[in-house]
Amino acid sequence: MDPIKKLVAAAREVRERAYAPYSKYLVGAAVRSESGAVFAGCNVENASYGLTICAERNALAAMIAAGGSRWTEIAVVTEDEGTPCGACRQVMAEFAAPAARIHLFSARTGEISSYSIGELLPDAFTLQSRRSIECADTSE
Ligand code: THU
Repeated sequence: MDPIKKLVAAAREVRERAYAPYSKYLVGAAVRSESGAVFAGCNVENASYGLTICAERNALAAMIAAGGSRWTEIAVVTEDEGTPCGACRQVMAEFAAPAARIHLFSARTGEISSYSIGELLPDAFTLQSRRSIECADTSE
């Protein structure tokens, strides 16, 4: 099977287990690590709304917990090709391989659109580079 289709299939499957009784917005994400292994995650909501965890971050956490370090592709399935929230973009950036691609798939229309992490999160915050720039600025 085509690698992107395989990733989308994994995201669609895990989306069926999304726990979203409050928003009813089901999200499934599947991430492929540099080793080729695939890790999936769905959104898990909570009665205390702010404790909700997004599908993308759950998939990335599963990759890290399994010993992975970088991802090359992630597929996110929603009803409408919903784009990842800002928090998820920042967490994606933390572990993205240089040419990483994000595929957003609509379960309703079957349409897919693909992005780089730079397109979704230009000028991402990174601790090392930002801190050295800020330190340099204040010493002037
Ligand atoms: N959600 C995700 O799983 N990923 C995102 O990037 C955006 C939002 C979830 C959180 C919540 O369960 C539901 O979608 C509606 O916000």
